[in-house]
Amino acid sequence: MSVNLKGKSLLTLLDFTPEEIRYLLDVAKQVKMESRSRLKQERFKGMTLAMIFEKRSTRTRLAFETAFAEEGGHPIFLSLNDIHLGVKESLEDTARVLGRMVNAIMFRGYKQETVETLARYSGVPVYNGLTDDFHPTQALADLMTIEENFGSLKRIKVVFMGDTRNNVATSLMIACAKMGMNFVACGPEELKPNPEILKKCEEIAKENNTSVEFIPDPKLALKNADVVYTDVWVSMGEEKEAKERMSILKPYQVNDEKMDMTGNPDTIFMHCLPAVKGQEVTYEVIEGKQSRVWDQAENRKHTIKAVMIATLL
Ligand code: CP
Ligand code: NVA
Repeated sequence: MSVNLKGKSLLTLLDFTPEEIRYLLDVAKQVKMESRSRLKQERFKGMTLAMIFEKRSTRTRLAFETAFAEEGGHPIFLSLNDIHLGVKESLEDTARVLGRMVNAIMFRGYKQETVETLARYSGVPVYNGLTDDFHPTQALADLMTIEENFGSLKRIKVVFMGDTRNNVATSLMIACAKMGMNFVACGPEELKPNPEILKKCEEIAKENNTSVEFIPDPKLALKNADVVYTDVWVSMGEEKEAKERMSILKPYQVNDEKMDMTGNPDTIFMHCLPAVKGQEVTYEVIEGKQSRVWDQAENRKHTIKAVMIATLL
């Protein structure tokens, strides 16, 4: 079956088939090889990308901006201080204007609805660079890193520790379910994955003869894990909840003891970054031999470039 993603937006990986995700990972592998040999292609020459940020970013901004610019394209950074978005001009109107002027839009912000509206009204590919609900480009980099490490994704067991209902955990769960992997969300009941998405992922996994589960007990959850993954305890926009999060998430800190609970000497540690060392992960684990966080950060760029190649050319 041939894959054609031209013109498609990446709003959530729920909209992508396993074949399409496979294709994006294959393109990412190719562009990573090219980057090592410094091959210049200028694939986005004459094109523009609008990048709208309601929230801060280091990796996502750099990945989109450098990936687009080094292929000859012109990325335009727009913070809320720069444009009329939602102030004086409706989101729909801004989307229509952008659609007349740029080839693609990246959005990072709060509501998933915003990125969906941008896609509906602009008529150009829109990329979700993180919303409260999803972080799909992160999950693609996560898959790439796991595959590089183990040679395959099939039946790899990924355990996400901590705030299992956040954007990063949700997109990772969807990615694992679709790609024939086993996924465990391990955290407190209060921060359980969205029930509707969890159910959907359980069903997808069942068809693949794998599993997606919520297991609050770290000892049970971590057994035989290939990947132990965590993210900050307080996501952007949830700062008010910081105090409560510290106490309910403390038992889920990834430390040497948790890494040992896998019983697997080859387990790797992953984190989308930025990390708060001493909270969700100890210094020893993130800086230790099992950590793959820097490969993971680099792979953001290759996978994002792959998404833009696949949807724009
Ligand atoms: N992982 C990630 O999205 O990082 P930034 O917030 O720095 O973009
Ligand atoms: N869950 C985090 C991810 C940051 C990349 C947040 O939303 O702040």
